[in-house]
Amino acid sequence: GRRSWAAAFGDMAKLIPTLPLETRCPTVPLRQFSGFWLPEMILSGVAAVHTRFEPRPDDIFLASFPKSGTTWLKALAFATLNRAQHPPSDPGHPLRLRNPHDCVSFFELPSALSESTGGAQEDVFEALPSPRVLATHLPYSLLPERVVADSCSGRVVYVCRDPKDALVSGWLFMKKHTAATAKGAGGEDDDVPPTYPLQDAFELFCAGRCVGGPQWLHVLGYWEESRRRPDKVLFLQYEEMLRDPWTNVKRLAEFMGCPFTVEEETAGTVDAVVELCSLDSLKRSKGNRSGTTILGIENASFFRKGAAGDWRNHLTPEMAARLDEIVDGVLQGSGLTF
Ligand code: A3P
Repeated sequence: GRRSWAAAFGDMAKLIPTLPLETRCPTVPLRQFSGFWLPEMILSGVAAVHTRFEPRPDDIFLASFPKSGTTWLKALAFATLNRAQHPPSDPGHPLRLRNPHDCVSFFELPSALSESTGGAQEDVFEALPSPRVLATHLPYSLLPERVVADSCSGRVVYVCRDPKDALVSGWLFMKKHTAATAKGAGGEDDDVPPTYPLQDAFELFCAGRCVGGPQWLHVLGYWEESRRRPDKVLFLQYEEMLRDPWTNVKRLAEFMGCPFTVEEETAGTVDAVVELCSLDSLKRSKGNRSGTTILGIENASFFRKGAAGDWRNHLTPEMAARLDEIVDGVLQGSGLTF
């Protein structure tokens, strides 16, 4: 359990090389820790958030499996929570100038980077005004005890997506990123395979061997907690958000403790948030047409099609059936379906 890991976290540097290793996923080596495959470089960050992160009672954590709507959720939560200071229709809104990932950070990330550079970057979080919005790709079982404890009033919003679309989105993202990296590095980067067939990505995904995988266990951990403590964990579905963004933004605002007033609704504030955070608007924004995020990933690469069911254009029916069978087998009886 969470508590018994405390010892492991204290000595993570020694533990990491002993953990099962997966090197076939571009672009980072993964290690299996407590049932999940995580980038090796993140594990020291996981240890840091467990031992050093100080939660605040009004913290909001945005959690997701990669390529499941993280960027959208970051934008929506940021725009909703900060709407008094930054009206969504404001032409100078931070989300029009910067990538959502630069407005809301992954809390395991700067710590991980600072561990490797010897800095103390978690001060970044100390400096943020309350209420803070932080994001994470960590599975629920790996969130620090201090964050999930009943005594902590901080809240968690999870967004989940059909695993077939998350897989395809991740594969295309990786292809684009590795192509850009190879180009930028003059093709000298040995870590990046020149080709990464979808079949390979599919096999690894089905084996749970991808960042945050197995996807279905990632989803299940948050799903079960959202059923057990609906006031603590809000469970959103990407497909539902696409179908009805308005209602989902309202749910998000209520859950975060800043519901839209009737006056705001009448004045079109909810619509303005939805519009500001829409794929097209973010894609077009100044901050996303160029530049890269902290990890050197092109800002533009976070915005592609934003559709439900795009997997049909990439996976064969046989591949889809095989993945569905794995996922359905695990989610059976949980009350969650895709
Ligand atoms: P596709 O590749 O299927 O288009 P993440 O943000 O977790 O990395 O997920 C990326 C996926 O979310 C991509 O899916 C991307 O296009 C989509 N996306 C990004 N911003 C979005 C937005 N504002 N609205 C809807 N989908 C968005």
